[in-house]
Amino acid sequence: MIIPILKLGAPELRKVSESIQNFNGELEDIVKNMMETMYGASGVGLAAPQIGINVRLATIDPSIGEDKEKIIVICNPEIISSEGKQSGEEGCLSIPNFSENVERPMKLVVKGQDLRGEEITFEAEGILARCFCHEIDHLNGVLFIDHLSALKRGLIRNKIKKLAKAGEW
Ligand code: NI
Repeated sequence: MIIPILKLGAPELRKVSESIQNFNGELEDIVKNMMETMYGASGVGLAAPQIGINVRLATIDPSIGEDKEKIIVICNPEIISSEGKQSGEEGCLSIPNFSENVERPMKLVVKGQDLRGEEITFEAEGILARCFCHEIDHLNGVLFIDHLSALKRGLIRNKIKKLAKAGEW
């Protein structure tokens, strides 16, 4: 089922999400909805809080549905090491039609759990490293605009305020 994606302004996007302790069938239903919602919006990643569920769960697919082997579903993800830097354009399904350059580490090691609670580890580089950073930020209530200068962030907020006034946000 495709769930409406929450946009900037929704309080769920600003909460620190809770760790997953119970690895039961309910998680699979949430993930199914997240995947459908992510692909429905042509996104490369989605975090559970974006569909209003404040748990530490993210789906990532840099191939946007082209390659099943690229699909990552991770619970309780944590960055355990990072190196280097990359700068590149980043957007967010919760802040549609805005994108800006954001600096992120070039390489990461991420640890987490799969849907059965088994530990999983990923070595990510480039775009995948960027996706992990972005989705883990969501689980901490952080959005990509928080990494921008106050000036740039202010400009985006003003544009969104205008859109909201016009009923377009
Ligand atoms: Ni996002």
